[in-house]
Amino acid sequence: MTAEKEWIKDLVVYQIYPRSFCDSNGDGVGDLPGVLQKIGYLEELGVNAIWLSPVYRSPNDDNGYDISGYQEIMEEFGTMEDWDRLRDACHQRGIRLIMDLVVNHSSDEHPWFVESQSSKGNPKSDYYIWRDPVDGHEPNNWASVFGGSAWEYVPARGQYYFHYFSKKQPDLNWACLQLREEVYRMMEWWADKGVDGFRVDAISYLDKPQDFPPSSLPPLPDGYSFPEGLAGRPGTHAYIREMNRRVYAPRNVLTVGEVSAPTVEELANYVRTGREEFDMAIPFVPPMVEIDTWSPEKLARDAWESYRALEKDGWWARFLSNHDKPRQVSLYGDDGPYWEASAKLLALFLHCLPGTPFIYQGEEIGMTNVKLPSIQAYDDLDTRNRYHQLLLSGSSPDAALARAQLESRDNARTPVQWDGSPKGGFTTGQPWLGVNPNTKRINVEAQRQDPLSIFHFYRRLIALRKECPALPHGDLAFLDTGCGELVAWRRRAGDETLLVFCNFSQEAHTIPPGLLEGAGEALLSSYDREGGYQGPALRPYEAALFRARI
Ligand code: GLC
Ligand code: CA
Repeated sequence: MTAEKEWIKDLVVYQIYPRSFCDSNGDGVGDLPGVLQKIGYLEELGVNAIWLSPVYRSPNDDNGYDISGYQEIMEEFGTMEDWDRLRDACHQRGIRLIMDLVVNHSSDEHPWFVESQSSKGNPKSDYYIWRDPVDGHEPNNWASVFGGSAWEYVPARGQYYFHYFSKKQPDLNWACLQLREEVYRMMEWWADKGVDGFRVDAISYLDKPQDFPPSSLPPLPDGYSFPEGLAGRPGTHAYIREMNRRVYAPRNVLTVGEVSAPTVEELANYVRTGREEFDMAIPFVPPMVEIDTWSPEKLARDAWESYRALEKDGWWARFLSNHDKPRQVSLYGDDGPYWEASAKLLALFLHCLPGTPFIYQGEEIGMTNVKLPSIQAYDDLDTRNRYHQLLLSGSSPDAALARAQLESRDNARTPVQWDGSPKGGFTTGQPWLGVNPNTKRINVEAQRQDPLSIFHFYRRLIALRKECPALPHGDLAFLDTGCGELVAWRRRAGDETLLVFCNFSQEAHTIPPGLLEGAGEALLSSYDREGGYQGPALRPYEAALFRARI
């Protein structure tokens, strides 16, 4: 992050997955006029930036992450005039608009690909990655993220094209200068149209080893193996820097890279100021890995390590949720008896760490995972592939469905629950994905009326960012509580000191004497409904924020 970008420290970003946000015309699919209708709601919440998941023309194999027209709006979502109206409405309210940008791959229905696949000699022949068959087969054994081989044969060329994601998402060939120029021109066009930032999708894979060596990793149940060392190759960093020099730097736009980085050092390589790549990074971790490996201690350790890596010259995107993960209250909290306290604890956890908080739609009312009744009820191609791989490896259909219910990305993609009616106020038609039946109990309308709701807790937290300079600007030190489930830290800026305590468990835990010395009244507590912090024991999922008098 450069000095001109200091403003990103004061942002609170709200991610919108437009398909599931609000449907304005009753076709069951959320759209841009729907987002516009709810802009007052976002203003009431207090966020000052929106990240829109892709709204470009797309056949929706991966819900817009497969783009067939980068300078067009998806018909189901509305028109370019709707987008212009949304931009203006955001800017009138001081809300920055961040667009998702998918340039590792396009859709196979993009005119570039249609031309590229038509023959070997066409002008766009090199826009994608084509290889000859080897012994009549795919060029290597690489697996695609969404199942099967990463190669697809096209008879017209007698060649295979490479797709790291689905076969409807062919990878763009970044080694082709002409392609890179087209991508930069398109990005410049959006930036000149008034976009304030880009969240750049799956950006770690731009550069491929041109010889495509076979992978020696163990095969997945369908026989293919994930590539080794594809993420974060030096060539990828060079392309990102080129993109930065060409598009971002001259325009002061905010950039967030979605990166795959096995270590915190590699993550930092995308963000360190001197590297001139991105302002912030969103690390991608597969949902099942996270479900299996997370713990409160690990959340704290990751926060600490990333803080240390970028303390001197970088900045952090902080998030617990997005459209690729299960719902945070179901994953890290408790969606049963401690639903409300744990949703508030997670909010406090996120907003009190150094960095820019990213809220994913519905998180601010504590939306939970959903258990859809059959695999057919799931829409996500990733969920269907994992289910299939589990069956291949011998799982029973019931066990495979149970896994899908736990890890599916559709958990986060059910429509936003605006009210308690059966369709949650999302649409008057047939919603494209089932509304969570708990909309009766968990919805925006009910929470706006209840001053102690999760929604109002988020509002207070966001407002507090402006009142407490230590929240956006303070340093960080974790405190030793002697208990892994009780995570505590201190933030300090100037003469302001904040103390944060989060009890990530269903047991009470006592704050060790001494740690609270000098602490004044609690500013916020996840037990505000019960009269707030009463200590020194923290009740199940109790979290509290103090401003110290010293
Ligand atoms: C990113 C997106 C995800 C998408 C994938 C392929 O990880 O967040 O939703 O499926 O890239 O574009
Ligand atoms: Ca619609």
